[in-house]
Amino acid sequence: MLKKLSSQMILLVLVALFSTQLLIFTIFVFETDENDIVSKNLQGEHFQLKMKAALNIIEHSSEQHLYAMNTYRVEFSVGNKPLYDVTHMSATDKVRSIQLQQQFNDQQPSATMRQFKPIENRLYAAMVYLKDQLSGTLTAELKNDPRNILMQSQIRLSDGKWLGMTVFDLHNFPIWIRSTVKPMAIFTFIFIIFAVFVVKRLTSPLAELADNAHKFGKGHAIAPLEPRGPEDMQNAIVAFNTMHKRLLSVNDHRARALAAISHDIRTPLTSMRLNAEYITDADVQHNILEKIEEMEQICEATVTFALKDSWSEKNKHFDLTSLIESLCCDLNAQELDVSFDAQHKIPFQGRPIALKRAISNLIKNGVDYGHRVNVFIVQSTSTLEIHIEDEGNGIPDSEKERLFEPFERSEQSRNRSSGGMGLGMAIARSVVRSHGGEIELNNRPIKGLDAVIILPL
Ligand SMILES: Nc1ncnc2c1ncn2[C@@H]1O[C@H](COP(=O)(O)OP(=O)(O)OP(=O)(O)O)[C@@H](O)[C@H]1O
Ligand SMILES: [Mg+2]
Repeated sequence: MLKKLSSQMILLVLVALFSTQLLIFTIFVFETDENDIVSKNLQGEHFQLKMKAALNIIEHSSEQHLYAMNTYRVEFSVGNKPLYDVTHMSATDKVRSIQLQQQFNDQQPSATMRQFKPIENRLYAAMVYLKDQLSGTLTAELKNDPRNILMQSQIRLSDGKWLGMTVFDLHNFPIWIRSTVKPMAIFTFIFIIFAVFVVKRLTSPLAELADNAHKFGKGHAIAPLEPRGPEDMQNAIVAFNTMHKRLLSVNDHRARALAAISHDIRTPLTSMRLNAEYITDADVQHNILEKIEEMEQICEATVTFALKDSWSEKNKHFDLTSLIESLCCDLNAQELDVSFDAQHKIPFQGRPIALKRAISNLIKNGVDYGHRVNVFIVQSTSTLEIHIEDEGNGIPDSEKERLFEPFERSEQSRNRSSGGMGLGMAIARSVVRSHGGEIELNNRPIKGLDAVIILPL
């Protein structure tokens, strides 16, 4: 889990984002607590001066000017009735009212101020509000207007009306939660999408590079990669492309040198064959001619393998079923026991001669080491499997990888007089891999080997 570079980078970004958001949120909650301000205002002259200003406006100007002073927290009103009953005022309220009256030089005995609820911790109040809201126990009053009345103040005007001031407590209303958490959530969401996009953009060329290096390491043919992503990544891709090109040319040179040597050895072998004709002892002569023939075969096989003659073949569209069918017919004509369960046409793009050679090598092995062969194709949405089943002894798991190497044969085959060069499987594998595929060797449950050519569609 989270082994991929992209997942780890996204996790890192998210951890960094959430911890900063949490820090900012905590600072915001504790450093900008409005309760502090309200509590100071209540103790000080703030609301008393507001009432004084309101009275001034109502007496010397209009009601409209008074309402212009309204804020979300403080609302002024002019009505025929008082806002509250003054009979049950607490001792603190009485003190506050006296202080208010002093602002009017004791000219306004009707001026009072009354606190309705204690000031609570903002975060705690918000939690209680949210809990009530979620459990559905929120009072109808709070639902309609989630502001709680914190305090009120009133003065009887000269015309008998009442000037009122209501200070709301915003603490129960998590408006600040909405105004902080909502943008945070939106920002986080956008940021996550952005981070995923950027991280994918950074890491996808790396994944492609790793995939290609992996394929190339296994001997598959790969196309040079398009340098993309950040500069460092582009440099790595360019370096990989250069290495890929260089390795191909080194391989090519080596193969050509090997082919040239094998080819040139054939000339002295021919003259040795001619000279051998003069050997009088028939047994010795037979022995030497046999050895010369064996060496010639080795040289020929080496030239073919080294040059990979069919590699220069161009990619083509062809029907794979017909290709295998005609191959099996040819092999039947050579009296090899091969059957093919041909079904419908399978359009395929690749190098038909090379593929024919690979399939033929595996079928011939099946016949050589497993008596008779049955070929069938299994097709899925993304792959194509060509099964070549025989009835021989199969190949032990420990031997499988080795037998794919050039000139490698199992001990029993080595002892066989009819033995080949040990190149059939090596050639088949390099052809199949150059098509982006793979060969699997599975021992069949009862007897024999199932050599499977898996090709991508
Ligand atoms: N179907 C099979 N059943 C059992 N053993 C097999 C089978 N196919 C291949 N082998 C073993 O793998 C070895 C390598 O096979 P490969 O086709 O590469 O070489 P070869 O058949 O010996 O020679 P060449 O194909 O070059 O004439 C064989 O010698 C044989 O021992
Ligand atoms: Mg073979």
